[in-house]
Amino acid sequence: DMGGHDTYMHKEISEQADAVDRVLRGRIDDRFSTVHLGGLNLDAREARGVRRIKILGCGTSYHAGLIGAGLIESLARIPADAEPASEFRYRNPVVDPDTLYIAVSQSGETYDVLAAVQELKRKGARVLGVVNVVGSAIAREADGGVYVHAGPEVCVVSTKCFTNTVVAFALLALHLGRIRDLSVSDGKRIIEGLRKLPEQISEILRDEDKVKEIAEAYAGAQSMMFIGRVRGYPVALEASLKLKEISYIHAEAYPASELKHGPLALIEPALPTVAIVPDDDLLEKNRAALEEIKARSGRILAVAHREQEKADHTIVVPKNEPELDPILMGIPLQLLAYHTALAMGRDIDKPRNLAKSVTVE
Ligand code: M6R
Repeated sequence: DMGGHDTYMHKEISEQADAVDRVLRGRIDDRFSTVHLGGLNLDAREARGVRRIKILGCGTSYHAGLIGAGLIESLARIPADAEPASEFRYRNPVVDPDTLYIAVSQSGETYDVLAAVQELKRKGARVLGVVNVVGSAIAREADGGVYVHAGPEVCVVSTKCFTNTVVAFALLALHLGRIRDLSVSDGKRIIEGLRKLPEQISEILRDEDKVKEIAEAYAGAQSMMFIGRVRGYPVALEASLKLKEISYIHAEAYPASELKHGPLALIEPALPTVAIVPDDDLLEKNRAALEEIKARSGRILAVAHREQEKADHTIVVPKNEPELDPILMGIPLQLLAYHTALAMGRDIDKPRNLAKSVTVE
């Protein structure tokens, strides 16, 4: 049942304020400015012993894991990174007893992720799951974890589950941070930010018509470039994947800082750039990148906290805490992919060559 929407993708994009509300529900503890995660199976002593975190996932879940790693590093100050689960499996990784491994999966059935979890467990590692489908293979195999509570996701491309997974990582990062060195005031600040998300998501979704107009202006492009810096880079990666999956427009994502090391050669009027430009301490650096692109007559769509004068179009999103801004900046880009694909007449819920869960090698 699509509940009045023409596609599951649109339905699921529209459900995100409620979905985020669900992942937060019952978990916030104002007394200690922290969150409780019932199924984690990691006590405070064990949490303090973690030296490193390695996050594994595929596709969109890998991108959510990249943002998750950033959240864990900034809030819990534990070195963290994310890697595609399949790459990890095949490179005979060093499995370290002080590393906490986290497997991320919407379906909980992705074979490459499951196989990585099984291999890690065989070698004695501790593995948590950040999973949407309750009771799925990865959820059962993991030692504990955080359920994402996005609700059923039917569309082949993941949208609401991506958002909720990132929020689940914010909760985990806050939880680990408050056991370690995150201050009460920073804990409060993040909790306030989390509570604002559902309303801010609704605000973004109310501007859908503007995104639709912009999407129609870019729908003829052969190829698109997505750039972001630090926290914005995984947002660029995910937005580029979403566009490819349903519109079949070729898209690339680069860290904005890498432009001058090669991809700048591609910039010309026929290659539009989508730039993630939050009002954070990297704003001036990001603006300089926009100038570089403009100097080569590249068209620019900025996703920002205020109008960007170098951009041809700006989608303005509400500001939250800098750590949580990537969650909000991803949402209009789901709509951008959606309306671009729609304008091109694509079968949005059934993109060619793809399956909802990849349960084979
Ligand atoms: O169910 P999972 O999260 O493990 O799936 C992982 C990927 O196959 C999935 O995210 C894929 O990239 C989607 N088509 C993204 O829209």
